[in-house]
Amino acid sequence: MRIGIPKETRPGELRVAGTPDFVKKMIKKGFKIIVESDAGVNAGFSDNDFIESGGEIADKKSAFGCDIVIKITRPSEEEIALFKKDSILICMIEPYLNDGLIDKLAGAGINAFAMELIPRTSRAQSMDVLSSQANIAGYRAVLEAAANYPRFFPVMMTSAGMAKAARLIVLGAGVAGLQAIATARRLGANVEAFDIRPEVKEQILSLGAKFIEIDVGESGTGDGGYAKELSEDGKKRQQELLMEKISKADIVITTALVPGKKAPVLITEDAVKKMRTGSVIVDMAAAQGGNCPLSEEGKVVKKHGVTIAGIANYPSLVGADSSLFYGNNIINLLALFAVSDKEGNVNINFNFEDDIIAASMITHNGVVRIK
Ligand code: NAI
Repeated sequence: MRIGIPKETRPGELRVAGTPDFVKKMIKKGFKIIVESDAGVNAGFSDNDFIESGGEIADKKSAFGCDIVIKITRPSEEEIALFKKDSILICMIEPYLNDGLIDKLAGAGINAFAMELIPRTSRAQSMDVLSSQANIAGYRAVLEAAANYPRFFPVMMTSAGMAKAARLIVLGAGVAGLQAIATARRLGANVEAFDIRPEVKEQILSLGAKFIEIDVGESGTGDGGYAKELSEDGKKRQQELLMEKISKADIVITTALVPGKKAPVLITEDAVKKMRTGSVIVDMAAAQGGNCPLSEEGKVVKKHGVTIAGIANYPSLVGADSSLFYGNNIINLLALFAVSDKEGNVNINFNFEDDIIAASMITHNGVVRIK
């Protein structure tokens, strides 16, 4: 059975869905791996690295013509035309876009898995690309802040003078936020953090950060470890209560999001105006509308003397490791339905009783299973 790894074509997408490490592991499981030429070069892997791991380098058509095709981003219409009927696609489909792509996949007879629909359960953790990539994004967001901040993060005592530690705030302490806290602490910043789910306070404290004690009048704890949206009153209260803290911070990293909702505004324009010149905001939710209305998706801009980074694909900027983790997530998903027998032949069996397959397989045998 052949797995194809095409080169990503979306502008700014530097990752590759499988690395040479993926190739090695999957060959041991009985698969043959076809890699499009230059597929890994932007992530730091040459064609030769894939060949040394046992992969075969080929053209785009051959990579898309495999039994299983793994990708980071959803395929374009031209790419859909290259799939063979009954093949399997695993990628981030962006199923919520509702733009007809899923019908097209079903129409082409492609059995597609949407990696972002893997449930956030303990059993599925090793397949959860949203977590593996958000973790990396949280790390890279702090580096972005540091690179744009005209001062040091740690206390610096030198013969030429002394620098104070940066005061950094993280708003939203989910996967990306907790990694941002840990990374900022490692760089020596003083870190404070807030989340509307009070249960994350312990995790914030365990990373050596302070929890910002504000009372928005309601809890944001929702189902399945996710947040629920605050009421309009709660949102306003939060903006007002955070204003003073934000005005004293040197750096604010925001990661606040409730799944399926527009990102809540946490830093108003008034709050930005109150920040010191040279301060930095890294708005990780810029692609979901932004936690700061002044952030611009994909850009680093300066407003009222404050640098605001709205970069939308931090994992790509740590392309080698994000690709490695992504590939590992796929290996764990494949283990649920593509298993080799004693002779080394791989058998495919979709068990829809399995909650992970049931939740993430969006098309099967020409039928759309999940809209
Ligand atoms: P997550 O769901 O694990 O964390 C979001 C956190 O925000 C939760 O802890 C939630 O309780 C909190 N939250 C919700 N509303 C809040 C509010 N009003 N105030 C304070 N906290 C609030 O999500 P994850 O995976 O950590 O992603 C966070 C954000 O980062 C999302 O917007 C995601 O799309 C984005 N992201 C951006 C990337 C980039 O490259 N820019 C890459 C990966 C994720």
